[in-house]
Amino acid sequence: MQPSGTLRIHELTAEERAVYAKLKPERLPEHVAIIMDGNGRWAGRRSLKRFLGHQQGAKSVQLVTETASRIGLPWLTLYAFSLENKLRRPRAEVNFLMRLLKSYLESNVQRMMDNNVRIRYIGRTHELPPEVQDKMRWAEETTARNTGTTLTLALNYGARSEIVDAFRSLAAEMQRKHLSPGRIDEEDIRRHLYTANMPDPDLLIRTSGEMRISNFLLWQIAYAEIYVTERLWPDFRGVHLLEAIADFQRRERRYGGLGEGGGEVEEDPEQIRIAAG
Ligand code: FPP
Repeated sequence: MQPSGTLRIHELTAEERAVYAKLKPERLPEHVAIIMDGNGRWAGRRSLKRFLGHQQGAKSVQLVTETASRIGLPWLTLYAFSLENKLRRPRAEVNFLMRLLKSYLESNVQRMMDNNVRIRYIGRTHELPPEVQDKMRWAEETTARNTGTTLTLALNYGARSEIVDAFRSLAAEMQRKHLSPGRIDEEDIRRHLYTANMPDPDLLIRTSGEMRISNFLLWQIAYAEIYVTERLWPDFRGVHLLEAIADFQRRERRYGGLGEGGGEVEEDPEQIRIAAG
């Protein structure tokens, strides 16, 4: 599904256009989620302080979002700050990330307007510093009527705590409506997640080569295709998003079934002897 009238292929770089030309536009993922990793290593390899890696990472956020909006990607979700980051990183780094987020929003809302991007957030954002929350609210309200890509930043986010929050909210609803637990189904849980009004990610990208999910969207990625690149996040650009989508389009999604052509059974399974012991 494409947001209508938002394709701006002519604004892609020549390098991006070459990759885009090989894509099947009718088979674009609807939702791409990214675990942005490697800012610290990017800085370390250049003997720079970690915060410069984060600063360069913020540039990648802007450029990748703009490419997503040009190809009409409806949903882009970025893991910007985890609950664990807040608890386990030095206070100075956490404070820097908060200031960076605030200044990112201040200086990028106009570009989001120019690119028809709407910004939203998931996570326990009420625990972030009040001045950051004010800026987040301002950016969300300013861009609320944009109809192109929805950029969702996961901030102070953890998937397990999202599930805890969903269960708390579902339990409160059940108590209010006098419902019995035996009636809970997947749809009940889904509609209490932070992502209730979003489709599940089709493609999950992780940069910097780590083969981990790191407590990101655990419920929602049940059937996502996973793409891991060695590239560090500050070096990740729109063209790399398009390469990941090209890889995604080469995959066969099966959702637990047999996939195309997999339904032809050569022998009657009833006749196959199952060896005992
Ligand atoms: C991982 O790098 C990245 C983060 C902890 C946060 C992501 C933050 C940004 C991309 C910058 C700011 C974002 C916005 C939206 C303005 P790392 O520090 O864990 O890298 P390392 O594993 O190499 O140390």
